[in-house]
Amino acid sequence: MEKQLNVFEGQDAVKKFLDPGQNVYLPLVELPATINPFAKDNVRIYAKLMNMMPLGNVKAAPAFNMIKDKYLRGEMAGMNKIVENSSGNTVSSIALVARHFGINDVQSYVPAEISWHKLMMLLFFGVEPIVNVEPQNPDASDPDSGVSKAKKDAMQDGVFNPGQYDNDANPKAHEKWTAPQIWEQTAGKIDIFCAGLGTTGTIIGNSRYLKDKKPALRVVGAMRAPDNYVPGVRTEKLLKLVGFNWRKHVDKIEPVETALSYRLSLEMSRGGIIVGPSSGLALAGLLQYLESLKATNRLDDIRNKKTGEIVCVFPCPDGPLPYIDEYFKYVDRAEFPSIQNEELLLNKPHG
Ligand SMILES: Cc1ncc(COP(=O)(O)O)c(C=O)c1O
Repeated sequence: MEKQLNVFEGQDAVKKFLDPGQNVYLPLVELPATINPFAKDNVRIYAKLMNMMPLGNVKAAPAFNMIKDKYLRGEMAGMNKIVENSSGNTVSSIALVARHFGINDVQSYVPAEISWHKLMMLLFFGVEPIVNVEPQNPDASDPDSGVSKAKKDAMQDGVFNPGQYDNDANPKAHEKWTAPQIWEQTAGKIDIFCAGLGTTGTIIGNSRYLKDKKPALRVVGAMRAPDNYVPGVRTEKLLKLVGFNWRKHVDKIEPVETALSYRLSLEMSRGGIIVGPSSGLALAGLLQYLESLKATNRLDDIRNKKTGEIVCVFPCPDGPLPYIDEYFKYVDRAEFPSIQNEELLLNKPHG
């Protein structure tokens, strides 16, 4: 394998480091049979580790592309503030990228139910949160949603709202960087792509590129089952807030429950693939889809006739550590070791 020294130098070294186009390919790691219940069926499942981007999460790519796109259109001059609606990854990534394009002032509308931990993360990265009570059943134009409020703020001079829910530079980032990597890394053998649905940028961008290369590719969208929680991903009701026409890029939708998402994330992490709850959700959606194909004897419809295999890829958006407390809420306590001499602890976060 060619040696990749992975060095970034010079006055704009950090800006180059943050640019997905100037980075090495993100790892594509096959799940071992212990985590792949379809290994015996010749189904190969690969995790695409988007959490290994410089900013530790998938949103580094759309954040960079939305800001660069604005800059290339010559519209960044005169901007001194960015406002976005995001509860974490996107706006943190935006803040870090924006500083390299001369903008230091970044605000974010965040939902009132945001966890204190996430709020601290925003403060850590220098983002000013604006708490907003989100409407219960919003659509893309609801004036009370953080999305609309951020858009309205951007009507003032000098304020830029990247607008990740309808800005094509979001899916374009995946079309430009993520999907070509997956295509090359699988040598064009990918048969199924499954991703969680948040802004839907990941699924749209990958679907556009990969289906163009291989029209028979199956694209599966994993969403949160109603009233189930997984950070970064939406329920069917909450997806109404998204401005993109994402449905035309997806062949099958799989609703996934919270507990399963957290458990699969824990299993992958313990197996050495350290990924967060929405990675568990994407894997769960993929496994549910494969199960439905197997139950109706349709796995062979997808199987590569030459190799006899089915190749599946799911992106892993971030790691587990920002949500570490939540694993103790959604995964059975019996899955964790006990603490010896617990009574001696001076701080007991779990009571
Ligand atoms: C942790 C996490 N998972 C999944 C997603 C969904 O990705 P997308 O917005 O591209 O649909 C996001 C997006 O914010 C995220 O932060």
